Amino acid sequence: MVFFDKKSSATTVLKKTYKILLVDDEKDIHSLSKIVLNNFTYKNKNLEILNAYSGKEAKKILADTKDIVLILLDVVMESDDAGLLVVKYLREELKNDFTQVILRTGVAGKLAQMEVLHNYGINDYKEKTNFNTLSLRTSVLTAIRSYENLKALDEKNEKISKLNLRLANLLSNFDENVLSCQINEEREIIAVSKCFCILAALKQEELKKDIFQILKKKDQEEGFYKKIKTIDKEKNTFIFEQENIRKDASVFYIKWKISAKFDDKNVFLYYLCLCEDITNKKEVEIANDEIHRKNIILSQQSKKSAMGEMIGNIAHQWRQPLNNVSLLIHYLRDNCLNLNHKEIEENVDNCKIQLSYMSKTIDDFSDFLKPTKKKSSFSFKDVFLKVFNITSFKYDKKDITVIQNIDDIRMNSYENELIQALINLLNNAIDALREIKGKRFIFVDVIKKEKKIIIKIKDNAKGIKKEVLNRVFEAYFTTKGEKDGIGIGLYMTQEVIENKLQGNITVVNESYTYEDKNYTGALFTITLPLS
Ligand SMILES: Nc1ncnc2c1ncn2[C@@H]1O[C@H](COP(=O)(O)OP(=O)(O)OP(=O)(O)O)[C@@H](O)[C@H]1O
Ligand SMILES: [Mg+2]
Repeated sequence: MVFFDKKSSATTVLKKTYKILLVDDEKDIHSLSKIVLNNFTYKNKNLEILNAYSGKEAKKILADTKDIVLILLDVVMESDDAGLLVVKYLREELKNDFTQVILRTGVAGKLAQMEVLHNYGINDYKEKTNFNTLSLRTSVLTAIRSYENLKALDEKNEKISKLNLRLANLLSNFDENVLSCQINEEREIIAVSKCFCILAALKQEELKKDIFQILKKKDQEEGFYKKIKTIDKEKNTFIFEQENIRKDASVFYIKWKISAKFDDKNVFLYYLCLCEDITNKKEVEIANDEIHRKNIILSQQSKKSAMGEMIGNIAHQWRQPLNNVSLLIHYLRDNCLNLNHKEIEENVDNCKIQLSYMSKTIDDFSDFLKPTKKKSSFSFKDVFLKVFNITSFKYDKKDITVIQNIDDIRMNSYENELIQALINLLNNAIDALREIKGKRFIFVDVIKKEKKIIIKIKDNAKGIKKEVLNRVFEAYFTTKGEKDGIGIGLYMTQEVIENKLQGNITVVNESYTYEDKNYTGALFTITLPLS
């Protein structure tokens, strides 16, 4: 809470005055002037008269006192030119051009009037003898007005120079940071920012030609000026992106924003182009397109190799039933005459069973090649059943033991993609195990930890060479011969795990003990979010 002291609320108003310095070695002139100027007011302000009796005293007062409006100045005092030296001091040393100076001398004609006024910045000249009340008061009034006008002018000048400075800063900022240019109807650049020249790697002189002949790519359609006509009519802004080429053949992209400018009589002035450097954005777009294109190719290749594998699988699965069908047909041919109708029916039914098994095999295998558009709920036990079924023909004859430790976990995700990713890992393990002698193992672990599912697939094929361990997820990286691998298995696996299933995959070489024996192998760990 604030308490106000009644006494302190009284305010003292300091009345402003016009300061006048009276310099004369004759005391009478001081008293006379005081009488003549008594009661002088202007704009509600009185005069404050300061007195100096020599040139030296006047200089001291001038040095110590601000805002002296007028000096009424005697010339001859301690020396013949003491008064003139005061003016010199005022103008040259104190650099004060505002204070008005009126010379008053009794020695008429001794100083040539104009010369004195001109050389010493003196504003007026009065002879002492010719100095009457009205004349002195009028001179003081004129001096005050001149002083005030000069001050006001100075303030304005200061404001203008501050504004000029700000404007200059703004322009230089604009010049250095804004890509802009102005184009006339003859396609010449009439103004261009420094920033634009730097981007285009051109000197300002070079830009005085048709900007599009310099910058645009040669094979580009030059619809620019045709399009500009629309701006003329509709006075709207025209925006387009353009690929440009510098002298050194490097490419940069600009987004132009062009508007036509007219004067107040609707006469066309120039086209104002404000541009944006979109090179980075474009490069990212181009890189993304390239990645997208590459991924399409890779996914097609990956599909082809999966299809090749699928045909291998089908061939493997069909071998037995085909054999059975063939045996049945031979049996029927050899015994057709001895068989009764029922027996023939039985054998045909047997054939049908084998054939329908074969047809189901095709459906099963082709199913997993179709990308899943919608998520579905599946169990990891089922997923691995399918994975082992599809890859079984590969390890059947290679004495590979699969040791599974799969928790009964369900997940809602893209099942077919996950199956493909896991098949790639198992195929790699099988390929690597083919190279070693002795017992061959693949360990598969699936566990739930916090809100994540962790899948670990490990073999005992001695692991991946250290030098290439950090390259195995690169597209087309393979250590296998051309016939055996193209190097997209792990790339696609990572792509699916990270981008489609929002998980991640890592690989390390791990040394471990199993049934009292030491082994080393590649360990792939997939982490998938449960939600
Ligand atoms: N379990 C593993 N043990 C040892 N090396 C492995 C294993 N898995 C992958 N690699 C190494 O990583 C490389 C890349 O594997 P990736 O599956 O991407 O391609 P690939 O198997 O060579 O060819 P493909 O495109 O037919 O799958 C392999 O060539 C192999 O050198
Ligand atoms: Mg592979």
